[in-house]
Amino acid sequence: MGISFKEVDHSFRGLKKKEIYHALLDISLDINEKNEFIAVVGKTGSGKSTLLKHMNGLYLPTKGNVCIFDSKLTPKPRKNPKLKQVRKRVGYVFQFPEYQLFEETVLKDIMFAPINFGFSREEAKKKAIEVAKLLKIENLLNKSPFNLSGGQMRKVAIAGILAYDPDILLLDEPTRGLDPLGALEIMEIFNKIHKETGKTIIMITHDMNLVYEYATRVVVMNNARITYDGDKVKLFSSNIYKENNLAKPEVLELIDYLNKKLNLNIDYNNFTLDDLLLKLRDIKVGDNNE
Ligand SMILES: Nc1ncnc2c1ncn2[C@@H]1O[C@H](COP(=O)(O)OP(=O)(O)OP(=O)(O)O)[C@@H](O)[C@H]1O
Ligand SMILES: [Mg+2]
Repeated sequence: MGISFKEVDHSFRGLKKKEIYHALLDISLDINEKNEFIAVVGKTGSGKSTLLKHMNGLYLPTKGNVCIFDSKLTPKPRKNPKLKQVRKRVGYVFQFPEYQLFEETVLKDIMFAPINFGFSREEAKKKAIEVAKLLKIENLLNKSPFNLSGGQMRKVAIAGILAYDPDILLLDEPTRGLDPLGALEIMEIFNKIHKETGKTIIMITHDMNLVYEYATRVVVMNNARITYDGDKVKLFSSNIYKENNLAKPEVLELIDYLNKKLNLNIDYNNFTLDDLLLKLRDIKVGDNNE
């Protein structure tokens, strides 16, 4: 098992004495080390980022335990194993990338984590340049990370994680702040990494089109609890998505419309617009009207 939550709660102290907010309640969740592409979705404030921060020990549970590979994290910090090895294996791209950048140049920033995890300077530089090419940000390598746009910062933060090649990638809204083409490019890169290396990816997003296109499993959060964990077709063909304030992916809106208007019978296993267009090529309108 890659990551496993057992009856985890996480609460934050409020400003007033004895006031506490529950950000996670009774979370049990098993994530395989390999071959999962999980979308974590849910309305704002539902606990998604807090959940991800438990997956590489940024937060400790206030009740229950989280196992990350062989490391068991419990509410007692002193009894917990060292987190460096865990963090090398589970990379986290933050929701706000500006929190993650701090070096003088983009190149140094991307090299920081690999060096910290034991790569030589030479290896780290080679890796940094390789991922900068992959993300098309080679032209930024000598700039200060603080003089970049939000979308460029996000790409640099992503490069800093890919450079040390963790086994599991945690992505907190990875396409936020990117233009549509940039968002598509980034998603295709993650998808390629997932397909070619079998790395498990856990991605928070508010974009249900991305969820439908890429995820192999969806975890829905609502008011600090997991309210659904499973297949995307089932999620969007039942009322569960509505009950959790989620939008319907556009491709499904289109399938619903075509099925109703033209009396067709297209199923929800067409995950992208391209799938749907291919399917439509084989359908003669009127076929199902007889
Ligand atoms: N450091 C903190 N101190 C106190 N409360 C916090 C802290 N971080 C999060 N919370 C609270 O915990 C709850 C869950 O927050 P979290 O950031 O996990 O939500 P989210 O689902 O990621 O939301 P969004 O979609 O807006 O990013 C919220 O009510 C939030 O106010
Ligand atoms: Mg969040």
